[in-house]
Formats: sequence, structure tokens, C-alpha cells
Amino acid sequence: MAVESPTAPATPERQPFRPGLEGVPATQSAICDIDGQQGLLTYRGYSVGDLVAQSSFLETAYLLIWGELPTSTELRAFEHEVQMHRRVSFRIRDMMKSFPSGGHPMDALQASAASLGLFYSRRALDNPEYIVGAVVRLLAKIPTMVAAFQLIRKGQDPIQPRDDLAYAANFLYMLTEREPDPLAARIFDTCLILHAEHSLNASTFSARVTASTLTDPYAVVASAVGTLAGPLHGGANEDVLAMLEEIGSLDQVEPWLEQAMAQKQKIMGFGHREYKVKDPRAVILQKLAEDLFDQFGHDPLYDLARKLEEVAAERLGPKGIYPNVDFYSGLVYRKLGIPEDLFTPIFAIARTAGWLAHWKEQLGANRIYRPSQIYTGAAGRDWMPLQAR
Ligand code: SDX
Repeated sequence: MAVESPTAPATPERQPFRPGLEGVPATQSAICDIDGQQGLLTYRGYSVGDLVAQSSFLETAYLLIWGELPTSTELRAFEHEVQMHRRVSFRIRDMMKSFPSGGHPMDALQASAASLGLFYSRRALDNPEYIVGAVVRLLAKIPTMVAAFQLIRKGQDPIQPRDDLAYAANFLYMLTEREPDPLAARIFDTCLILHAEHSLNASTFSARVTASTLTDPYAVVASAVGTLAGPLHGGANEDVLAMLEEIGSLDQVEPWLEQAMAQKQKIMGFGHREYKVKDPRAVILQKLAEDLFDQFGHDPLYDLARKLEEVAAERLGPKGIYPNVDFYSGLVYRKLGIPEDLFTPIFAIARTAGWLAHWKEQLGANRIYRPSQIYTGAAGRDWMPLQAR
């Protein structure tokens, strides 16, 4: 007979099952708000349009993580701290040299992000200095590790960060071994702002679930990186270019879409759980792509993208399916000379700010995630000996 514990808590009322937790609030958060009907996105109450026009990625990261825009003294100190922690131990670089050069950079990033936990004490979550240290180290070292694997897989030694370059320019320098054009660096920094945070998307949910067990922040980010890698989430930006290249020419756009829809294929870079209009980030990224084309020359794939968006609007628009953040981002990165399989690692560089903001917020009011389930399996079965099966 089950012995009732004298103070057994009342069983919470069972909620209906919602696939993918669609529409189910799984946390309370003050970090980011999305209006999917109006196509509005705010970080800590500031519109992403204002942040793109006025801010930088590191200032936006500070806002997301600490909740307020920094004073100039606070911002300078934060930028200096991140700059001083960009270097990565030779042990991690040597580990990356043993990775297969054909491996996907997201797998290399997940492994190297997790390895950071080997170097820093694990359980000091009640120590504010540990929290600040983890925030600075992850923001500083994730770009260095992405750039390092790019050079290592080409058979080269990674190059050290340059302390005289700002965050975005330094990443492009470490990646390409050349100091970037100021417009390219500014546009890349804007891309990082646009990808920094997006409420409870799949990888951020992973981060919060992992954080809720009180593990170290390096494991939290590694868990989120693995989640972001999927083609339905951050991996779509890489697939969009492959899709446009498969379409090949303007006259093939409509027939390609017809066939894809007939085969119930998901159009990469389209659709969103929250937005039922064009993703506001896609609107800004499209303009950034056009700015780059004006300065550095056109990309015919952009014409295919515009045509696909136009044709898809008739067929998918009525279902609330429009371009999302991944539809134009790849065209920007391609014009910046970034290899396609680095598009998602770049998404991870930016989203580390959001993951860290949610990690900190989860710690501030933590209860370990342990949802319920509706059991649909067999019950009360008698054992079947092997010879009788
Ligand atoms: C990101 O959550 C976030 O905030 C994520 C993100 C962030 O910043 O973190 O914004 C980043 O992940 C952007 C999304 C990148 N992924 C893609 O572009 C892949 C293609 N998109 C789809 O797989 C899809 O739209 C999702 C995954 C983005 C959203 O999926 P949902 O909300 O679970 O929608 P669903 O798959 O249940 O589809 C609902 C209906 C279906 O039709 P019916 O069966 O009801 O007739 O809409 C259709 C789907 O077939 N549909 C699409 C479609 N997306 C949804 N049909 C064609 N092409 C698509 N892209």
C-alpha cells in the first residue's frame, strides 16, 4: 500500500499536451518580448531597430545580461574585460587540431565550449565574481574558437586576437587574416545584435533547462549550441543558400516552389512559431544585404531570394508563413566572404549573449525543470521468457 507522505503536496492540475509546447509559457522572463502579429521585437524594452541604429553588439549584450544600458564607464570596462579574455588556452587549440577537418564547425564549437568548463571551477554560482567571469569568458572566447577551427581545418595555425580591434572587426580579422573594411565590420556587428536574443526559442529553452540543474555555464552554452545546430532552428541559414543555388534561375523559382509545396517540403528561411508576418530581423538583414551589394557588388542569388519571397507570399502568406531571420542572413555573410558552414556558428556567437542572460535570470529564480507527460505505452504486462518470444 502506498504510504502517503503526511504533507504530500497537492498534485498540480494536469495540463493538456501541446506538441512543441506551442503557446505554453515555460518561464517568466524580462529579457525579450516578441509581438508576432505586429512583427515587433524588443530587448529589455528597447526596440531592436533602435539598438541596430544606436548600439553595438557588446553594449546590447550588456543590456541583455545585466538588464540596463551601461554608462560609458561601465561599457568601457566591459569592453576591456572581454578584450582581455579573448585568448584561448593552447590545450583547447591543440584539442581542436585533433578534430577531423571535415567535421561541422558547430560540432567543433560545442566540444570546445564544453571544454572551457575543464579550466574554470564548476560550482561557484553564488559568487557574483564567478558569474561575471563566466559571462566575460564565454562572450570573449566563443568567437576565437569559431575562427580558430576555421584556420585549423585549413591546416593553418589559428591567429591571436588583436587587442586594437573591436569585437566584430577582431572576429573577421581572426577568420580571414585581414583587417575588415569598416562597413563590413559595422554590418557584421549589426548582424550580431539581430541574432543576440529571441525569448524562449529552442536553444534558449535548452539553456534554461540545463541551467536549472545548477551545472556550470560552459555546459549550459554547450547544450544550447547543440540545439541551435538543427536545421529547423539555427541551421536553416546555411540551408537557405543551398536552396537558392538549387533553384538556380529566376524562371525556376515558381516551378521549384510548386514542387516543394506538392512534396510538403519546408521552405528554409520561412515560417516561425511566433511571427505570423515577415520577421522584423529579416527586414533589417535584407537592407544590410542591399547596402553590401551597393558597396561590394551584386549577388544574383539575392534576385532569386526576392522572387521566392514574392511568389511564396501568395501561397504561404495566407498561412502566416513569411521570411524569418535566416532567409537573408546567409546572403549578408556570403558577401562578407564567410564560408556557408560558419553561418550557424556566427548565430551562436551572437546568441551566447541571450543564452547568458537567460542563464543568469534562471539562477535568480530557479526551480529545476521537470515537466509531466501523458503516458501512452503498455501497462501490466507479464514477463515473456526469451525462448517464448
Ligand atoms: C529560428 O523560435 C525562434 O525564435 C527561433 C529563431 C531565433 O531567433 O531563435 O527565430 C531562429 O530558428 C528561425 C527558424 C529557422 N528555421 C527554418 O527556417 C526552417 C523552416 N521553418 C519551419 O521548419 C517552421 O516554420 C518552424 C520550425 C520555424 C516553425 O515551426 P512550427 O511553428 O512548429 O510550425 P509547423 O512546423 O507546425 O507548421 C505549421 C504549418 C504546417 O502546415 P499544416 O500541416 O498545418 O498544413 O505551417 C507549415 C507546415 O507545413 N509550415 C511551412 C513552413 N513552416 C511551417 N510550410 C512550408 N515551409 C515552411 N518553412
